[in-house]
Amino acid sequence: MSNAHTLLPQPRLPGRYAIALVCLGNICRSPMADVVLVQRLDDAGLSGLVQVRSSGTGDWHVGNPMDDRAAATLTAAGYDATRHRARQFARSWLDELDLVLVMDGANLDDVGGRSERVMLFGEFDPVTPGTEVPDPYYGGPDGFEEVLQMVERTSVAITAALQRLMDRP
Ligand code: 4NP
Repeated sequence: MSNAHTLLPQPRLPGRYAIALVCLGNICRSPMADVVLVQRLDDAGLSGLVQVRSSGTGDWHVGNPMDDRAAATLTAAGYDATRHRARQFARSWLDELDLVLVMDGANLDDVGGRSERVMLFGEFDPVTPGTEVPDPYYGGPDGFEEVLQMVERTSVAITAALQRLMDRP
């Protein structure tokens, strides 16, 4: 269902692109993906064009910083994990966003299902395309390292796809 040919939907408005990254609690996976993707976009000179926002389908952690283990994994890899505060996803955002990338199938169900603009983040994973990003919350440190590896390589691929899309509107 997904591979290197997975296409990004066209921007709703020329010259800007709004992406939501969605997981369950918004303290582990989507915040990690947010920090990494924003860094890649910055490196590519796209941060003025592409807006990224992470959120969770659940409300338990709203207002909280990232999970300590997620933050430690990012910090050890050279990222700034201090600025995150958890938010809850709202379905009303679907009318305005260009792209919603969810971490797993439960998230996909919770946001209302797959569509042209709603898909798995892992569809852009160049190593295991179409895969879910596994929830590391109840596991050990290896799970956070695995999430970092997945979001790093996938963010490179998404950034390259955005570069192509925004160069040729
Ligand atoms: P996340 O991980 O969805 O990657 O942020 C979780 C964080 C918290 C919970 C579940 C998953 N929780 O049940 O509180």
